[in-house]
Amino acid sequence: MKHFARVTTLAAALLSASLITGTAHAQLAPAAQSAAAPATAQAEARKANIVIIGTGGTIAGAGASVTNTAAYQSAVVPVDKIIASVPEISKVANVKGEQIFQIGSESFNNERLLKLAKRVSELLKQPDVDGIVITHGTDTIEETAYFLNLTLKSDKPVVVVGSMRPGTALGADGALNLYDAVLVASNPASKGKGTLAVLNDEIHTGRDVTKSNTFKTETFRSPFGPLGYVVEGRTLFYRLPARPHTLQTQWDIDKIDKLPEVAVLYAYGNANPAAVDAAVKSGAKAIIYAATGNGSVGDYMVESLKAARAKGVQIVRASRTGSGVVVRNAEQPDDKYDWIVTDDQLPQKARILMALALTQTNDAKALQQVFWKY
Ligand code: DGL
Repeated sequence: MKHFARVTTLAAALLSASLITGTAHAQLAPAAQSAAAPATAQAEARKANIVIIGTGGTIAGAGASVTNTAAYQSAVVPVDKIIASVPEISKVANVKGEQIFQIGSESFNNERLLKLAKRVSELLKQPDVDGIVITHGTDTIEETAYFLNLTLKSDKPVVVVGSMRPGTALGADGALNLYDAVLVASNPASKGKGTLAVLNDEIHTGRDVTKSNTFKTETFRSPFGPLGYVVEGRTLFYRLPARPHTLQTQWDIDKIDKLPEVAVLYAYGNANPAAVDAAVKSGAKAIIYAATGNGSVGDYMVESLKAARAKGVQIVRASRTGSGVVVRNAEQPDDKYDWIVTDDQLPQKARILMALALTQTNDAKALQQVFWKY
């Protein structure tokens, strides 16, 4: 396996320039490479060994001009170049990069999610790996974080990180986000807290974090707030995750090779029941219905959802409001229809949880307990 190495300052300077000017640098000057030799083996041994897995996204993006903060090309900068552009990282950890994908995170699907999670699990088993950072597009970082939070069987820190602006932009946020993510992944206090998301000086649990704005750097929020902060190189925790995660859950990524198809349908005025029929025909084993308010279902949609249930498809009432819990048997007779309600899981998070739950049971009552437990 590639050894953990330090990023040289010269390489980073060269790269920072190239990131701004858009040119690529091929090889380091020999002198620079020798400068990368660790000062003392003992000093290096005190630092955590962190693997940074690159998947793409804006943190790997580049714009034509420094003023391109929201219009740029995503997923074009290799993870090793991203690491080299933040030389301060080498002062806090021994890192090595690994490129697993180079995609916008809107392109994550079950296959890619499983591949990433299995690689993370494999690396966590290696005794010389102390933690993992995953650079990821922000669009679906919340689903990936929740999936890892539910399926990894390790207490080592795993931190997902992204950025809202490419590294070439004025006010770019990726470099500090990555530095902070490595700090959190390197800190023993981060062990046993599940998968974490670090962006914009905040540490969020993978269970709760969600993207709430299309372009602002403070887009990530959790309904109950972050677990803590990263400030001036310090990792500060103030809260702990309340729901089971990683070693405490019933799912092990090493034993999951396929995820059942789960559809998400969005409620709106004049919604077409044909969408439910189409989801069933496409092979969905469950439908997460992002209903209005407290999971209210339009009278013209009820029969198609009941018909889907009669064909063995699980029906989950979620809410499109963005926060709160859906109360069972309130807006709809869930006991009578054999439907399920989310707790506070957002529709996109409910899809992840339902897909995992269906790998072990298809009993609606057992599935309801899963939504109330995780
Ligand atoms: N294409 C989007 C993604 O990869 C860009 C958004 C971002 O990474 O901030 O999620």
